[in-house]
Amino acid sequence: MILHLPPHIEQRLRLLKDKGGASVVIRLYQHKDYPALAEMYRCFEPKEWSQGLPPRLDHKREEWLRYVVERAINLLAIMEEKVVGHAALFEIEHARSYEYLIFVHQDYQDRGIGTALSQAMRDLAQEMEWRKIWLTVGAINLKAIHVYEKVGFCIVGPRDIECVMTLTLKEDNEGQ
Ligand SMILES: CC(C)(COP(=O)(O)OP(=O)(O)OC[C@H]1O[C@@H](n2cnc3c(N)ncnc32)[C@H](O)[C@@H]1OP(=O)(O)O)[C@@H](O)C(=O)NCCC(=O)NCCS
Repeated sequence: MILHLPPHIEQRLRLLKDKGGASVVIRLYQHKDYPALAEMYRCFEPKEWSQGLPPRLDHKREEWLRYVVERAINLLAIMEEKVVGHAALFEIEHARSYEYLIFVHQDYQDRGIGTALSQAMRDLAQEMEWRKIWLTVGAINLKAIHVYEKVGFCIVGPRDIECVMTLTLKEDNEGQ
């Protein structure tokens, strides 16, 4: 991982209940989690659902996922020792902003996991005093837009086939 976090954040985990009362753990990805995370994406459907992700072809999916776990801050949602959700934050523009992505396995959606992962990522970014999180989302992806708005993202610019959403965590005092 290129971005480094202080140990107290790396070791933190959140324990919560999903909407049905089942236990969910949210914590940072560790190298040993790769097979379980890859398995979530192997089973994720529909493939190529959002901006061509997750890739359908096994070798492309592996190439993409290896890149994500090496380059981003990664949070996992774990239920019964299975990875059921994954959120990632990439540093872009030399830490001026961070790009966000999230996937929750289809069998575990609508239980509050995507919201919990996004809140945990927002809190982590806030604690690190990062300025802005950014993402693009398909305008028809109303569920994702709803989740992003719940955690504080706003649509900026035109609501086209894809929308850009940003979450400002810290005002830029340098006027840039
Ligand atoms: C988008 C995604 C991450 C959300 O995760 P999730 O665990 O299902 O989200 P939650 O259960 O926390 O919240 C879903 C919310 O959307 C609402 N919702 C469900 N279907 C909806 C719809 N068609 N339109 C609007 N809101 C909808 C739910 O009611 C819930 O809101 P509430 O808690 O205020 O009632 C997940 O559905 C997913 O992985 N989708 C496929 C990949 C994807 O689109 N990723 C985003 C790429 S930009």
